[in-house]
Amino acid sequence: MSTRETDSTSTTQNASTEPILRTENVRKEFGNLVAVDGVSLEFYDDEIVGIIGPNGAGKTTYTNLISGALSLTDGTIVFDGDDISDLRKYKRVRRGLVRSFQIPQIYDELTVFENVQSSVLSRKQENNRLFSLTHRDTASIEETERLLEMFNLESHADEHTEHLPHGVRKILDVAMSFALRPKLMVLDEPTSGVGSREKNAVMETITDAAVERNIGLIFIEHDMELIRSYSDRIVALHEGRVLDDDDPAAVMNSEAVNQFILEGGV
Ligand SMILES: Nc1ncnc2c1ncn2[C@@H]1O[C@H](COP(=O)(O)OP(=O)(O)OP(=O)(O)O)[C@@H](O)[C@H]1O
Ligand SMILES: [Mg+2]
Repeated sequence: MSTRETDSTSTTQNASTEPILRTENVRKEFGNLVAVDGVSLEFYDDEIVGIIGPNGAGKTTYTNLISGALSLTDGTIVFDGDDISDLRKYKRVRRGLVRSFQIPQIYDELTVFENVQSSVLSRKQENNRLFSLTHRDTASIEETERLLEMFNLESHADEHTEHLPHGVRKILDVAMSFALRPKLMVLDEPTSGVGSREKNAVMETITDAAVERNIGLIFIEHDMELIRSYSDRIVALHEGRVLDDDDPAAVMNSEAVNQFILEGGV
């Protein structure tokens, strides 16, 4: 496994100084319910951050605010130096902020190869020409081949996606998101529904690819072993607020995290 920690020590000259994403006091109310209650956090494009918290802590809502799937009640979101608080979701994607398992959509009538290629072409805004270009756009074919290789999908290239094992489908979704050339990717429970033996392989493939492409990752996860193994940093949310934000060992040893999260299950 290549973790970001080992990587960053060997590439300190590339270390990020400015956060790629900063949320300042972001808040989301649903009627009387405060789902996210003033969350201020920074994320860098050379790290993998795990988000933990009990059911209803506000994890999904927080990432929906980041992606623009939900509008803010209050607060500010700065991405790559710009205030994107009011920016539409698709415009955030274009800037390199991609939340997976929503965008892009997997087309079951297409093969794995064609799905990844459709993402490559959509980035180039040539999606409407997909069918005429599929067999002759050399650049997109080569890029698709590289992505399939990076995500260990070559053996599935010609398969239609409806019959793929769940874990492979998850990896395909992330590969398609990578085709959009994100700077930061947000994943909500990337291994949910994946068999326990497959979970590590899914996480390993995704995190290795992120390290290789220098893409920041934020992932929500309930499985503490996965969180511990694949995060450079862990953010613990509880009742819409940040309970802790530190390296994995410190968070796992935190009294508050143990009291409110680990003992109650995440
Ligand atoms: N669209 C919505 N309308 C009303 N309430 C919502 C909506 N989405 C989420 N909530 C509420 O906001 C709170 C936070 O929910 P959220 O889904 O963000 O939690 P979570 O940490 O992702 O939980 P889980 O671990 O179960 O996925 C919960 O009380 C939830 O019921
Ligand atoms: Mg959730």
